Formats: sequence, structure tokens, C-alpha cells
Amino acid sequence: MKSIQLGTIKLAYQDQGTGPVVVLLHGYPLDSRMWEPQIEALSKSCRVIAPDLRGFGQSSQSSEDATNGVSMSQYAADVAELLAAISVTEPVILCGFSMGGYILWQFLRQFPERVKAIVPCDTRAIADSAEARQGRLKTAGEVMKSGVEPIITAMLPKLLSEATRHSRLDIVAALTAIMNGCSPAAIAASLRGMADRPDVTADLPKITQPALVLVGAEDVISSPDEMRGIAEKLPDAEFVEIPAAGHMTTLENPAAVNAALLDFIKRQS
Ligand code: MLT
Repeated sequence: MKSIQLGTIKLAYQDQGTGPVVVLLHGYPLDSRMWEPQIEALSKSCRVIAPDLRGFGQSSQSSEDATNGVSMSQYAADVAELLAAISVTEPVILCGFSMGGYILWQFLRQFPERVKAIVPCDTRAIADSAEARQGRLKTAGEVMKSGVEPIITAMLPKLLSEATRHSRLDIVAALTAIMNGCSPAAIAASLRGMADRPDVTADLPKITQPALVLVGAEDVISSPDEMRGIAEKLPDAEFVEIPAAGHMTTLENPAAVNAALLDFIKRQS
């Protein structure tokens, strides 16, 4: 893990391999370790950069972030600043998983010329409903008092398919360890940011970069139907449904995710 000081925050990131640059943005409440199988496979032929987003993993956040929230565009700006600081000037292949996908849309809005191709993975284009938004803000307040345990209990059944939960205890343990490592302040900050994220559906037909849209066949957070709808609105998109996976495709079926990614990346050169 490397790290760099960006203003008041320290941003930690993995940076492995050489070749076309692939940037992997993790979801909530996670860190760059959710991409371990992809970092290993892709770094044989690509330069893979996977940051721990502000506050998560080994990255720090500002003292006011937990109460003010961190917007998806702020996370995107952090990633752009990181790329500039480590002299990545070529347009990148940007992969965003779930919350990382919300950040991907904002990165595209702010820095379209810095993106060569996109991989929205198990993510959504719409904003939260009023009810979901209220729920997030309530949880953001609670996590500062009760810690991450209730979040893990609530999230596990949504993140993993039933089969993974019952027969792949190694994946359950790895995912639980990643979530356990998240600070309540980072969780509160991102919950407030996600609650305020805009609906980007109207952006989709204007996105000119080639896209690979990935989704777990049993994803209950961003369903295959919803993600097929995203792919249909993007002018140049391929849609791949990952079998035997819920929301956490990268960990539940890494072989299928890696194969789809490697095939797509090869065709972008
Ligand atoms: C994620 O995996 O990043 C979250 O489930 C996204 C969300 O809560 O909307």
C-alpha cells in the first residue's frame, strides 16, 4: 500500500503492474481490498490503481467530513488529484463498484477527458428515494454512537447471495473483516454523501466512452434488470451478468469478473 498527502488528507492506494491504467473504485462500507482478486489478475498486463477512498481503509478524512458528509463529486475529485499527483496523464479505464459507481458518474461529469472507458459494476444511476435517504441519514447518526457492528449485520444479507452466505464462509469472513475495518466516521460521511447524490440517468445517453456493465445475477441492491436498463441507455455498452454472485461480484465470482474485465480491457488498446 502506498500513500500520498492531498491537502489535509492522506490517501492510501494500491498501484501495481504496468500497461494501460485501470482505476478501481470500491463500494460502501469497504476499501480497496474488495478488489484483491482483480488487482492480482489485471496487474499482469495493466497498471492497476485502487485507492482507499477518503476515510476508508488506510486513508484519512477531514474532521468535519462525518458531520457534513462527503459528496460523490468530492471522492471523484480526490481520485483525480491522486492521479495527477502520481503523474497519470493518460485517460484511464475507470471501474466503479456500487458507491464507486456513483463516484464514477461524477468523475465523468468533472473529468470526461481523463476517462478512456468505464466499467459500472453493481451500481445505480438513480438517486435515493426520500425514504432511503431518510434511512441513510438516520444510520449516519446512529453509527457514530453504536459503531459498525449493526451495519455489518444489516449489510451482509444484501451484499452476498444466499449460497455464498451459507457455503463460502471464507468470503463471509473476508468481507466482514473489510467492513469491520471501516471507521464509523467514514461510514457516516459516505452515507450522507450517498443520500445527497444526484440522479444521473439523463447523463447516460451522452456518455461516449465504451462501457462494460457488470452485475451479479442475484444482486438485490442493483438488480440485473436495473443495470440492463443502464446499459441500454449508454450509447456504447456491453452488458455481462455474472453467475453465482450477489452484489459482491468481485469476491463471489472473481474468475468471471476477471475474464470479462480482461477481455474488455484488451479491446480498448
Ligand atoms: C455499496 O455497495 O457501495 C452500497 O451498497 C451502495 C449503496 O448503499 O447504495
